[in-house]
Amino acid sequence: MNPVEGFKETFGTSPLIAASAPGRVNLIGEHTDYNGGAVLPAALQRRVQVALSRNDTNQIVIKSSRFNDTVERPVGDPKRGDWTDYAVGALDKAAALGWLAGGVNLFIESDVPDGAGVSSSAALITAILRAAARIGEVTTTPVAIAQYARAVENDYIGMPCGIMDQMAVGLADYGKALALDTSDLSYKVIEIPSDWGFAVIHSGVRRELADGRYKARFEECQQASEILKTNELCRLDQTQIEALARLPENLCKRTRHVMTEHKRTLAAIDAMKVGDLDAFAALMNESHRSYSQDFEASTPVIDDLVNDALSIGAKAARLTGGGFGGCIVTLIERDRLDAFVAELLDRHENAWRV
Ligand code: GLA
Repeated sequence: MNPVEGFKETFGTSPLIAASAPGRVNLIGEHTDYNGGAVLPAALQRRVQVALSRNDTNQIVIKSSRFNDTVERPVGDPKRGDWTDYAVGALDKAAALGWLAGGVNLFIESDVPDGAGVSSSAALITAILRAAARIGEVTTTPVAIAQYARAVENDYIGMPCGIMDQMAVGLADYGKALALDTSDLSYKVIEIPSDWGFAVIHSGVRRELADGRYKARFEECQQASEILKTNELCRLDQTQIEALARLPENLCKRTRHVMTEHKRTLAAIDAMKVGDLDAFAALMNESHRSYSQDFEASTPVIDDLVNDALSIGAKAARLTGGGFGGCIVTLIERDRLDAFVAELLDRHENAWRV
């Protein structure tokens, strides 16, 4: 349903504004974004669309086309632990910025699956902030919106994520990847070579319960950074690398993953720029090995799916996103993509193509 139509049906008037943002898939560069490293996410075709208006109450009234119920929450309501927190948190931020204060009617239309590791939450927050900026008639930038969107996750939701998702959904369009250096937020939008075929396959295992484990990995990286006295665990100097051996084994492994992942991501960006599919694929495969063995963020179901994808002809397959379930991303020549996906899904009845 078109969000404007949905809004009219729900609230009986036209919305003031509509805005949207895509979901994203990370091609390579996992858990490097809060360790000062590089990432290479790409936008999905799927989008979160919102339509909204001020109302004259002190209530945020939220209707999503996915659910029958309309949810009402007071302006400034603290987090309560369900998906409407992302909307309330984003509107809280918009109010704090002076963009849009008071009660709001909000309609949400989305084909970005949640709990899949494809950034439905970053897309929802970003779409709402974009709409609020237009209502407030403020001049802002996509990078500033990404920073505000990340702050909603970090401060309101309590999810200690980096800035990859918010930058990806704010700056990339379908068919493009975002080569981002998270140490200074410099970036380049890269056209994905037209003969490369990426497919995102959901394992059938939702990853919402994974947030605690994401946080545990985040904290391990923090501990390693404190011991090595750095803010950028991805970029250690020689003395710090020598000190690595004295770290507890888990911290040493997490550090090894983020350091090597950063280097792989830089190499993958170069490979994509020159259209070297084989080099890119090899880096993705090595990334999965490191994510699974050094960062220990994979699961048996995911590893099985990755191995099967490779055995039936994918050039590369890896777990994508925050880890512990969700999706894999596969790479194969574009003209072989659909047949490959059909065969993979045939073998895994719980898996589906995003
Ligand atoms: C989640 C987080 C990101 C990033 C990835 C892992 O998507 O929101 O900031 O850390 O996991 O690469």
